[in-house]
Amino acid sequence: MALLGVSLFSLFSLVHIALLPSLCFAADPYAFYDLHVSYITASPLGVPQQVIAVNEKFPGPVINSTTNYNVVVNVWNDLDEDLLMTWPGIQMRRNSWQDGLLGTNCPIHPKRNWTYQFQVKDQIGSYFYFPSLNFQRASGGFGPFIINNREIIDIPFAEPDGDIFIMIGDWYTRNHTALRSALDAGNNLGMPDGVLINGKGPYRYNTTLVPDGIQYETVQVDPGKTYRVRVHNVGVSTCLNFRIQNHFLTLAETEGFYTVQQNFTDLDIHVGQSYSFLVTMDQNASSDYYIVASARFVNESLWQRVTGVAVLHYSNSKGPATGPLPDPPNDFYDKSRPINQALSIRQNVSASGARPNPQGSFHYGTINVTETYVLKTVPPVLINGTLRATLNGISFVKPATPIRLADQYKVKGEYKLDFPNKPLNRTLRLDRSVINATYKGFIEVIFQNNDTVVQSFHMDGYSFFVVGFDFGEWTEDSRSRYNKWDAIARSTTQVFPGAWTAVLVSLDNTGVWNIRTENLDRWYLGQETYMRIVNPEENGETEMAAPGNVLYCGALQYLSKEPNTTSSAASVLRGNSKLYFTLLVELFALIYTFC
Ligand SMILES: *[C@@H]1O[C@H](CO)[C@@H](O)[C@H](O)[C@H]1NC(C)=O
Ligand SMILES: *[C@@H]1O[C@H](CO)[C@@H](O)[C@H](O)[C@H]1NC(C)=O
Ligand SMILES: *[C@@H]1O[C@H](CO)[C@@H](O)[C@H](O)[C@H]1NC(C)=O
Ligand SMILES: *[C@@H]1O[C@H](CO)[C@@H](O)[C@H](O)[C@H]1NC(C)=O
Ligand SMILES: *[C@@H]1O[C@H](CO)[C@@H](O)[C@H](O)[C@H]1NC(C)=O
Ligand SMILES: *[C@@H]1O[C@H](CO)[C@@H](O)[C@H](O)[C@H]1NC(C)=O
Ligand SMILES: *[C@@H]1O[C@H](CO)[C@@H](O)[C@H](O)[C@H]1NC(C)=O
Ligand SMILES: *[C@@H]1O[C@H](CO)[C@@H](O)[C@H](O)[C@H]1NC(C)=O
Ligand SMILES: *[C@@H]1O[C@H](CO)[C@@H](O)[C@H](O)[C@H]1NC(C)=O
Ligand SMILES: *[C@@H]1O[C@H](CO)[C@@H](O)[C@H](O)[C@H]1NC(C)=O
Ligand SMILES: *[C@@H]1O[C@H](CO)[C@@H](O)[C@H](O)[C@H]1NC(C)=O
Ligand SMILES: *[C@@H]1O[C@H](CO)[C@@H](O)[C@H](O)[C@H]1NC(C)=O
Repeated sequence: MALLGVSLFSLFSLVHIALLPSLCFAADPYAFYDLHVSYITASPLGVPQQVIAVNEKFPGPVINSTTNYNVVVNVWNDLDEDLLMTWPGIQMRRNSWQDGLLGTNCPIHPKRNWTYQFQVKDQIGSYFYFPSLNFQRASGGFGPFIINNREIIDIPFAEPDGDIFIMIGDWYTRNHTALRSALDAGNNLGMPDGVLINGKGPYRYNTTLVPDGIQYETVQVDPGKTYRVRVHNVGVSTCLNFRIQNHFLTLAETEGFYTVQQNFTDLDIHVGQSYSFLVTMDQNASSDYYIVASARFVNESLWQRVTGVAVLHYSNSKGPATGPLPDPPNDFYDKSRPINQALSIRQNVSASGARPNPQGSFHYGTINVTETYVLKTVPPVLINGTLRATLNGISFVKPATPIRLADQYKVKGEYKLDFPNKPLNRTLRLDRSVINATYKGFIEVIFQNNDTVVQSFHMDGYSFFVVGFDFGEWTEDSRSRYNKWDAIARSTTQVFPGAWTAVLVSLDNTGVWNIRTENLDRWYLGQETYMRIVNPEENGETEMAAPGNVLYCGALQYLSKEPNTTSSAASVLRGNSKLYFTLLVELFALIYTFC
């Protein structure tokens, strides 16, 4: 009865977790979420615009899980266009069916819902989710996703007094459809209109630069306490320098790996990256303090308004923050500073990560590389009259049929396994070329940036060891300078213009996994590919089967049970019946929990 009570009670909250003590060994706990993705009107920079909210919130709610949880997320598309939610950094082990990109999933059509289910196996850390299609992230739809450590596993710092989530990102007052049209017309997006912190515009630190009436973010803290501040750059394409006035940022974690702890006064956070800092409220609260995220690697005097400012408010604060913002790094004449800062972020090899063994117990530096991929980017170019961005000369065309689904139904010609492992001197082209990667291989990937902007590269399904950065062209000799001992593992790395970044990755996760730039404009223009990793002895144990609710599209549209246009059937799923479905799901969870 008590358990039923819990279940009924949770029906009253939109975002709810049904967690019941497990009485048997078999089942890891379940966490259930409903994410309703819709437009709301907001004016983060003082101009009303349509923003993508999740459960009416912008940014969306936190997905809060613990190592090995089964996470079930029912995503409801209340937009007027297709939707897929993606979870970068969550490894989806053996289960690329849930990754939420066009190479892995058919889109969720407007007025429909689709339930993702995946296990956050052997992971901890700070991540975020976002809508992966149609440039939607530029209008919002993102929110934090955390994986807590299991209680039996120590964290390499004192239990913080609280969690603070900070989502920073450049922002345009044009919506994502307008931005898309600009790119489709072959235009550059130009300078963003500002930087948002947690969906809000800048505090009015300067009356000339910031108009009156803008709502800003206030982070409430108590003196003497230490918080875990999780910062995510969810923006379109601008690297942001993050700093909190008068406070040290003690770096503790990057995208799932504990770092050697060191204090920063400021840190560059590239698009798509996530960090946890421990911040102690050790100041005298003579006033509030500024939290700043300002544009980097651009002409900073022209980009002054591309600065996010929030307020850190001690409960004993004696007044508002005043005066100039804390200074950004002044390294115009020291181009190596950002590279040195990046190299200084190293793994705490003795800490336990998700499992009770040291993070450094996988001696990546002693493993022989089985294949090297040099992935080169150049500035966007016109191909057949349209603006496109390329990787090794290929501008990727979005799959019409998800790659593993095409494999399963033996549909030919949906993609090619011919992605070149180095840049070739040939005509740039549009294609669906995918990397034929070898299961259990240990590969080296060099991102060579011959573009003019700093970029972030991300790999789904994996964390990679970021072993080297340098200016110029990568050569085999560059390997002698790799960090082969305590390089940080993460899933998103910066690649400076005119420079390269090298990563090592052990291909132990079957499926099809996206490699992309997180710079939304370059990604939209085709700068991505996938790695297809199949165990040649696949017997159903190394890769999961397609889920029961798999959607069909493209060449497999004929299998779809959905009408291809939106229909009134969708509304049946709503209203009163929603309660019934939720109850049903939770009853199943109960049954499952008790075996
Ligand atoms: C986006 O902006 C365009 C142009 O300003 C406008 O026509 C359109 O209605 C907007 N779309 C949404 C979904 O807000
Ligand atoms: C996450 O859930 C745990 C318990 O399951 C709770 O202690 C913690 O406060 C939650 N964190 C957030 C940020 O909601
Ligand atoms: C849509 O939501 C309903 C109600 O929660 C659920 O029963 C159903 O499985 C969902 N549909 C899909 C395809 O996930
Ligand atoms: C506000 O910014 C403008 C433009 O950068 C600058 O000239 C001015 O000195 C600033 N005002 C204050 C009070 O700092
Ligand atoms: C980092 O700064 C904190 C104060 O915020 C201080 O207590 C700590 O000793 C510093 N740690 C290092 C490694 O410098
Ligand atoms: C508080 O700290 C600030 C900055 O360190 C300092 O200028 C100020 O004098 C201090 N105020 C008090 C009351 O200690
Ligand atoms: C790596 O390669 C070297 C030389 O090719 C070889 O001697 C060594 O045994 C290999 N190491 C492993 C772990 O396979
Ligand atoms: C690339 O190919 C063109 C024409 O085929 C040739 O002129 C050029 O020298 C080649 N460049 C390099 C670096 O090989
Ligand atoms: C350009 O378009 C034509 C006709 O659609 C096509 O045959 C050709 O392959 C395209 N060229 C490239 C570089 O994609
Ligand atoms: C992919 O690679 C495997 C070996 O790793 C090879 O047997 C297979 O023929 C390749 N497939 C294609 C289409 O190149
Ligand atoms: C791109 O490559 C060319 C030729 O190798 C070189 O001259 C140029 O400096 C490079 N530009 C960048 C931004 O890397
Ligand atoms: C609906 O799907 C069928 C079967 O694939 C296809 O022939 C038809 O063109 C589709 N209709 C629309 C409106 O997309």
